[in-house]
This record gives sequence, C-alpha cells and structure tokens, in this order.
Amino acid sequence: MNDTERKIKSYDGSGITVTFEAARCYHAKECVRGLPEVFDIDKRPWIQPQHADADRLAQVVRRCPSGALKFRRDDGANETEPERNVVTVTAAGPIHVRGKFTVESDAPLNEWRMALCRCGLSKNKPHCDGSHFEKFDDDGRCPKASGEAARVDQNVECTSPVTLKPLPDGPVLCRGPVEIRNASGETIFVGEQAAFCRCGASSRKPFCDGTHGAVGFKS
Ligand code: SF4
Ligand code: FES
Repeated sequence: MNDTERKIKSYDGSGITVTFEAARCYHAKECVRGLPEVFDIDKRPWIQPQHADADRLAQVVRRCPSGALKFRRDDGANETEPERNVVTVTAAGPIHVRGKFTVESDAPLNEWRMALCRCGLSKNKPHCDGSHFEKFDDDGRCPKASGEAARVDQNVECTSPVTLKPLPDGPVLCRGPVEIRNASGETIFVGEQAAFCRCGASSRKPFCDGTHGAVGFKS
C-alpha cells in the first residue's frame, strides 16, 4: 500500500515534515505530553509543527510507540535504524516493537516502531488501535512466561533483521533475534524464535499457548 492508500497525512514545519497515519495511532499520547504546543487534539489541524524546532520535534516523534508519527528532515538528519531489536509488553496494552522488523503480508511492511495488538480486539490487526481500553486488564508482567519457552540466550545479539508473521486466527510468529521485556522492564527472553499471543487468552502471555483455538479467535 502507498501513503495515499494508508491515509498518511503530512504536516510541514521549519526544516521538517511530520507524517501521521491515523490507523496506527492508539492514543498513547507520548506526542501530546511531549509537545502540547504542536500536538493538540482540540485544534485543527491537530499537528502544528511550526510551533517547535526540528530537533525537538524529531525527538518527540521518535517516542511514538506505534509508528503512527514519523518525520523527514530537510537537512537529512532522519531517524536511524535502532541498534537492538526490543519487544516490550505494556501493562493492559499492546506489545511495543522497536528494531529492524518486517511484517510479512501481501505487502511486506518494514518498520522500526510498531504497537502490536495482544488483546484480540483491534480492528487494524496486527496493529493496535486502542481497543484494549474497552476490556483488557493483563498487567504485562508475564509471570508464567518462564520455563521451556522463555530463555535468555546471551549469545544472541539482537541486531539482525526480524520477521513477524501473523498467522490466520493465531499468534504472530517472530523469527530473528529479539529481546523481550515485561511491563516492569525485566528481560524475560532473548532468542531467535517466539510466537506472540494476539488473542488475549493465553495463560503464558506474551507467548501463545494454543488457547486461540479454544476461544475461537478470529483475526
Ligand atoms: S500512538 Fe503516536 S501519534 Fe498516537 S497518541 Fe501515541 S505518540 Fe501520538
Ligand atoms: S494467539 Fe493467543 S493463545 Fe495463541
């Protein structure tokens, strides 16, 4: 899909253009907290980049966990590839993905920042759309994500590209070196293969335990 099909809008500032893909925004509000004079949902347009300098704007845009916000700078000082692939489970919310990730689909998507649905309710799967606010209260600490599936392999460097493959009515298969952290910031896994639950029902979150079949998850 191109930018028009994805409904990506552009907002020009001084030496920087901010882009916004509404379908990927899950209202985490990092932008609103970081630069309220630029990101204000009560104004039209709601993004007004002329109210901040390019450095500060770039800094705040990089915090957007979903990748809904991106930027292009006139001086070429654009966002650089993250050095390490890190997946972070959030409390009662999505998993944040930062690194060299490709989502496998008919139109493969290469991204450095994404928020993936793990409650099963998003209408924009595999991305989060904020639907977890309706009913999903998992605290993200993943106490049962230990044992055989969870391991920390110190030999894995988490720097090579990773693919994410959403299986129909099932988990997201993750192939490539990643570190997974729970919502408390503790590393619970470092390795090269994982399957993330995206139905919300696994007893071993963030990993799939096969429950998606029993609960009739439809992706
Ligand atoms: S997901 Fe990104 S664009 Fe949406 S509110 Fe959060 S920081 Fe802003
Ligand atoms: S996707 Fe949730 S248990 Fe498999």
